[in-house]
Amino acid sequence: KKVVLAYSGGLDTSAIIPWLKETYDDCEIIAFCADVGQGEAELEGLYEKAISSGASECHIVDLKEELVADYIYPTIATGAIYEGTYLLGTSMARPIIAKAQVEVARKVGADAVCHGCTGKGNDQVRFEGCFAALAPDLKVIAPWREWEMVSREDLLDYLAERNIETTASATKIYSRDANAWHISHEGGELEDPWNEPTKGVWTMTVAPEDAPSEPEYVTIEVEQGKITKVNGEALSPYAALMVLNEVAGAHGVGRIDITENRLVGMKSRGCYETPGGTVMFAALRAVEELVLDKSSREWREQIGAQMAHLVYDGRWFTPLCESLLGASQPLANLVNGEVVIKLYKGQAQAVKKRSPNSLYSEAFATFGEDDVYNQKDAEGFIRLYSLASRIRALNPKI
Ligand code: ARG
Ligand code: SIN
Repeated sequence: KKVVLAYSGGLDTSAIIPWLKETYDDCEIIAFCADVGQGEAELEGLYEKAISSGASECHIVDLKEELVADYIYPTIATGAIYEGTYLLGTSMARPIIAKAQVEVARKVGADAVCHGCTGKGNDQVRFEGCFAALAPDLKVIAPWREWEMVSREDLLDYLAERNIETTASATKIYSRDANAWHISHEGGELEDPWNEPTKGVWTMTVAPEDAPSEPEYVTIEVEQGKITKVNGEALSPYAALMVLNEVAGAHGVGRIDITENRLVGMKSRGCYETPGGTVMFAALRAVEELVLDKSSREWREQIGAQMAHLVYDGRWFTPLCESLLGASQPLANLVNGEVVIKLYKGQAQAVKKRSPNSLYSEAFATFGEDDVYNQKDAEGFIRLYSLASRIRALNPKI
């Protein structure tokens, strides 16, 4: 029996390795770690750690470019934002991680896949939803829903009893999830929404009040709804995101604090940082303002609203996802242009925008003379447009 475990090197997944062996008949554990841009610190020494905890192999798969190009860019082209502010950083990474985990499972001929998500969150649903779509034959093991352990102390005792070394400490304040796009912080004192997040919470951005008092301008080029150049330099999707994380983070851009509705029914409070992503959104929306007519824009917003729920709820590998992405593509293809974003004290504002396929025309919008719009036409238009109201108002019985 072989199990592929989504392994992070943290305390939870380290305890899962011996637990799986004891619980599932001395099965063989293949550790799998997705490099989604969570950073060197988390990946360092990961292989050795996995082996010393009892895994027989450890596969680290680089998914950074693919995450940004094939999951993040298509999603942001739809404008998907969950409950007004959440840019879906954790949610967008789950499908690619699950897919890569299934690929490792196939390669090693595994019978089961295992994850370290709790039984109270969204992530379990997302992973297992993807497993169901991609590999319905694989057994799914979710230790947090099975074992009796409830605290970090329990996990530390469990490892100590088995002489497995760990560098984890008894107090870990926040539950964090990081990738190239974002980092999430939940738990600890953040569980009380009456507590303002302290400076120690945030890791990707400086506090807006500590950000430079001089603004910084970033020029972004957009082609077919994708960021292709930053300050004149052509960059891959992942490289562009890295550059923007750096500059925007230094100006305190991209922090949100949300009490959100989880798919499993409860509310939870999270603080998320998406510096580069916030700038990308601002750039795309700015070009979109120039190129989409009223009904196209409205339709794009409807697609985005649907897409936000689809991504949050873990339904990536579905016909609905293909359908929404397919619907947004012709509109995204129009989003070409150049934007200057001004970064200042936590804000990212598009202060200049232009597009070769702009529908905006100074000549038409001007308060002076123009030659496409005859003001007299407006009279007839308004009479018919408001006819229903007139008829209603003329009826004394209504
Ligand atoms: N609440 C956010 C979401 O559902 C972030 C979840 C963070 N996940 C984690 N394993 N720490 O997308
Ligand atoms: C977890 O419960 O594992 C993290 C939070 C979430 O998935 O919503």
